[in-house]
Amino acid sequence: MNDAKRSGILLDVSDYSVGFRTERGLAQVVDKVSFQLERGSTLGIVGESGSGKSVLNRSLMGLLSSNRQIEEGSALFDGEQLVGSDRQSFWGKRIGMIFQDPMTSLNPVMRIGRQLLEPLQQHLSLNKQQATERAIELLTQVGIPEPKRRLRQYPHELSGGMRQRVMIAIALAGEPELLIADEPTTALDVTVQKYILDLLAELQADIGMAVVLITHDLGVARGRTDDIMVMYGGRTMELAPSEKLFTDMSHPYTQALFSAIPRVDQPKHTRLTPIAGASPDPVEPPTGCRFSPRCVYAQDDCTTTLPEVEGPDGHQFACFYPVGTAASVQARATNIERGHTATGLKIKAVGTN
Ligand SMILES: Nc1ncnc2c1ncn2[C@@H]1O[C@H](COP(=O)(O)OP(=O)(O)OP(=O)(O)O)[C@@H](O)[C@H]1O
Ligand code: SF4
Ligand SMILES: [Mg+2]
Repeated sequence: MNDAKRSGILLDVSDYSVGFRTERGLAQVVDKVSFQLERGSTLGIVGESGSGKSVLNRSLMGLLSSNRQIEEGSALFDGEQLVGSDRQSFWGKRIGMIFQDPMTSLNPVMRIGRQLLEPLQQHLSLNKQQATERAIELLTQVGIPEPKRRLRQYPHELSGGMRQRVMIAIALAGEPELLIADEPTTALDVTVQKYILDLLAELQADIGMAVVLITHDLGVARGRTDDIMVMYGGRTMELAPSEKLFTDMSHPYTQALFSAIPRVDQPKHTRLTPIAGASPDPVEPPTGCRFSPRCVYAQDDCTTTLPEVEGPDGHQFACFYPVGTAASVQARATNIERGHTATGLKIKAVGTN
């Protein structure tokens, strides 16, 4: 048995980077990201639009391979190196994927039945009769009425919610050890969202599957993950056990992102509020800390030196002036006094920006 199997770590990502060659130069979209995912556990990934969440996961799965893409670092799945290898053998069977937009990942000209039967026949070596029975069972499990009839339908004949459920059924058909779910419930109404997330949790418990859950919904992130990684500009800003991230956050970006934290007296599904300023340009990111142009604590060293991701007890963050420390109080006071941060961001005496 290798180390990964002994320790229970299913996915071990280390200094993983993804760049794209563009006309303007190299776009470093994912920059030295590291995380570990234990069997059966759930990692949430949050961050503003464009922070690299989808590219990270699609690239890990080998779905972006083109000569414009540069992939570096290490990603061990059950001890096997994904980087530089052909990962197709894992698709469906050991790793299931639910994509942000079901219409782009379901084949529009193929009946639902065929799209569902293929992975069942391929991965579980079922014959057609067995695969059909299992397909009906799966569609029933994901809450699709009249499953037999659905098998003969095309994706466009289903509603958005139904298509999403079909995608989940396909992703789960091979009973994968890992499910990558990229915004699996975006654009669905709240009741359907809850139903689908409950269903995933149930199936996760049933088959001991690990999940990477990319979400914009802080209520979902808080209630349904073991750990959360906060990404910004392709880098990890903070990575911590979920509850700790909400109650004891250290990174100013997490603080800004979570400024709309769900409280008891607020609706559960509080979405991320926009932070003033723009996301970094992946071709020409700011020097030093990627968040420095928008950070109310920024000091001179933040603009020259890139903070490493570090920290004890599974709570890691990349910041020179972590929230709640004396250093951050001092940094904030300095910026208030001079009326701006080291990057020139104007600071008012009251409020956060
Ligand atoms: N093929 C590509 N070539 C160059 N840049 C790309 C390519 N694909 C994605 N990007 C860039 O990578 C960055 C990260 O995109 P990504 O889709 O991973 O963001 P995201 O965090 O998933 O955002 P969202 O929350 O909106 O889904 C964006 O700036 C995007 O423009
Ligand atoms: S205090 Fe400095 S290092 Fe920390 S997030 Fe702000 S700019 Fe980055
Ligand atoms: Mg995305």
